[in-house]
Parts: sequence; C-alpha cells; structure tokens
Amino acid sequence: MSDTRPRILVFAGSAREDSFNKRLARLMAQRIDALGGQATFVDLRDFPMPIYDGDLEAGEGLPEHASRLKRMFMEHQGLAIASPEYNGFITPLLKNTIDWVSRPDGDLGALEPYQHKVAAIVGASPGGLGGLRALPLLRQLLSNIGVTVLPDQLAVGGAGSAFHEDGSLADEGKAKALDNICQRLVTTLARSSQ
Ligand SMILES: Cc1cc2nc3c(=O)[nH]c(=O)nc-3n(C[C@H](O)[C@H](O)[C@H](O)COP(=O)(O)O)c2cc1C
Repeated sequence: MSDTRPRILVFAGSAREDSFNKRLARLMAQRIDALGGQATFVDLRDFPMPIYDGDLEAGEGLPEHASRLKRMFMEHQGLAIASPEYNGFITPLLKNTIDWVSRPDGDLGALEPYQHKVAAIVGASPGGLGGLRALPLLRQLLSNIGVTVLPDQLAVGGAGSAFHEDGSLADEGKAKALDNICQRLVTTLARSSQ
C-alpha cells in the first residue's frame, strides 16, 4: 500500500552549525513524524547558492542547489520553517532561498513549488521575544507566493537555555504549542489530500 502520510519539508533560515532555529526545525521534523506526517529535514548549509542575480539567471539558469531544492519542494505538500530574526526581519539566507526557488526552471513554473502548499512558521532567538517580529513578515512573503500559512505560530525566546540536551523544549507550554502546530499542519494536509 502506498504511504499516504503528508510529506513536509522542514528547514531553518540559518546555516550556522549551532543554530537555535536548526534545533527547532529538527525538533519539528521529529514531532511531525511522531504525529502522523512524514518530515524531510534539510540543512540550507547543504544548498549553498549565490545571492539572486538576474544576469546570472539569464546566463546560466538556476544554480544547481536552487534547482535541486525546487524539485524537493515539489515532492512535498507542506513546509515547516524555523526563522531567525535579523534586525526585525527574516534572514538574507531564507529570503534568497525562497526567491531562487520562486524562479522558473525547465518544466517547472515560477511559483509552482508554492502553490497549494500549507506552511507552519516558528522562530527562535536568544532575545526575549524569540524573533517574534520576523514571523508576520515571513507569513506575508509566503502568502504573496501562494502558500497558506497556519494561523498558529511559535516564537521561542531565551533560546540559549530553551532546549534540553536531547533537543526537546524545556518549557512544557512551548513544547505543547509546538506539538499543536505540528499536529495542525499534518491534519490540515491530510484533510486537503482526501
Ligand atoms: C545581523 C543580525 C541581526 C540580529 N537581529 C536580531 C533581532 O532583530 N532580534 C533578535 O531577537 N535577534 C537578533 N539577532 C540575534 C539572532 O537572534 C541570533 O544570532 C540567533 O542565534 C540567530 O539564529 P540561529 O541561532 O538560528 O542562527 C541578530 C543577529 C544578527 C547576526
């Protein structure tokens, strides 16, 4: 029998080895799997690409990693993104990745990887607000390109002490909130594929 669990691509907007947002993304992937989805975690460090440049695109098309990631987007129904906050905004890495993936590539149309997608967005920061200011901006960006973003979101503040060694969240309320978001993402996608 074929696997009907919704496939969800999970990543963080940080390349940093010890990134709090990668920790949060990995935790989301684990919780999605536990709650009936099928998560694929990707580390954007493994998909290096230049800053978007129209001349580069006109001359060479999409960089190899952008093309590969675009095809991975196509193989998943959902997105789960952990976004850091830089100066109240999302990171250049996250914006650049979303921009490259939004460009046409051979048989794949510009916004095809985003159409009919459902996304959950969360963030983590060592600061008290947990990167809360970046989330509405990420929400708007994703909505602009056809992604339905779940209303629930989570910002994990004080990220330096927010995680247990095993990667789980120390705060029970936050752990529960993350589970609720992951569950809602899985359930929404499962319903929409019926
Ligand atoms: C350029 C820059 C701007 C930043 N601006 C903010 C900010 O506006 N709000 C915030 O909470 N943290 C800010 N930070 C701190 C980041 O939250 C912190 O570096 C965090 O660890 C980045 O996420 P990561 O751990 O996933 O790499 C900023 C960091 C950098 C490098």
